[in-house]
Amino acid sequence: MTAPIDPLFAPLALGDIDCRNRIVMAPMTRSRVDADDRPTALHVEYYAQRASAGLIVTEGVQPSIHGKGYPRTPGLHDAAQVEAWRAVTDAVHARGGRIVAQLMHVGRIASHHNKRPGARTVAPSAVRAATSLYTDTAGMQPCDGPEALSAADIAATIADYAASARLARDAGFDGVELHATSGYLPMQFLAANTNLRSDGYGGSPAHRARFVVEVMEALCSAIGAGRVGLRICPGNPFNDVFDEDPITTYPALLDPLRPLRFAYLHVIASPGRKLDAFALARAHHDGALIINDGFEPDTARAALRDGIGDAVSFGRHYVGNPDLVERIAQGLPLAPFDRKTLYTPGAKGYTDYPRATPG
Ligand SMILES: Cc1cc2nc3c(=O)[nH]c(=O)nc-3n(C[C@H](O)[C@H](O)[C@H](O)COP(=O)(O)O)c2cc1C
Repeated sequence: MTAPIDPLFAPLALGDIDCRNRIVMAPMTRSRVDADDRPTALHVEYYAQRASAGLIVTEGVQPSIHGKGYPRTPGLHDAAQVEAWRAVTDAVHARGGRIVAQLMHVGRIASHHNKRPGARTVAPSAVRAATSLYTDTAGMQPCDGPEALSAADIAATIADYAASARLARDAGFDGVELHATSGYLPMQFLAANTNLRSDGYGGSPAHRARFVVEVMEALCSAIGAGRVGLRICPGNPFNDVFDEDPITTYPALLDPLRPLRFAYLHVIASPGRKLDAFALARAHHDGALIINDGFEPDTARAALRDGIGDAVSFGRHYVGNPDLVERIAQGLPLAPFDRKTLYTPGAKGYTDYPRATPG
């Protein structure tokens, strides 16, 4: 008798991206870039250490200077950033890995203390978030009161995303993932409390979904649909967004995207499991599904066996386990991580977690 094949280790095509296993490294902001928003030699080491993942999704990367909100987050909007990211993608590819850039525009979740001169804080409507964030120069600060995007601003923002996707391709990325969760700009359009617009981008669920649909269309025409993913978390109230009816909102988003046949949908379980986000995603998306939130190796394996998703992403386990894939393969225990160094500069708590398996 041969042992049944472990579904976590079956190869998988996510659109045009061939993954050697179904263990995905979830996107994690780690706040360590240089003063010009470029990744450094530390990033090369960090991502190379984790290259055995079937796919790495990078930390959130701002597609324009306006998209930045937190300190020390990377950009993909100028030539020097492309060169810096090239070193990261080369290192991952040299180890047989795959890596996509997560495009993250924070919208109103921003402080001007963290932005370059001339960068704006924008949102669908001029509604300030009832939350605060950390800045290097002034400690904790309330979020800026955002400017409402004009129709021309919306077109320019979509063009920024597309330009950034082309730069991601130039930097050697296998694709991009649109960050549409956690109360950032795309979700600010989707949620009714942050989108008070009366034009074609606000009001009905279809109108609130239009911005995200148009960004996805622009990304797919920029680099090819087989290299574009989308990340959602229906019903997540993080960062002061409120959607009273995600069961209506998300079909209004996903159904118009079906003809695009984009590479994958990355779905985070809804907080409190108030709705079955994975089932909703399966019902309204024809392609590959990456599922996330709180998985352990055994629950991930069971979810793949049950067909709930096609791949599973791990976030926190990837902080302290650079060789997560090898540890899972060998049934080794997983190491904990230190919360205090999640967002602090330098190697400590970033590249200094040891492997448990030969490198
Ligand atoms: C330190 C940290 C940073 C994160 N940054 C991002 C991010 O930049 N983009 C994103 O979509 N999710 C981000 N997340 C959420 C993770 O991708 C993931 O959804 C979450 O950790 C739940 O998965 P897990 O239970 O496997 O950790 C972050 C999570 C952590 C712990």
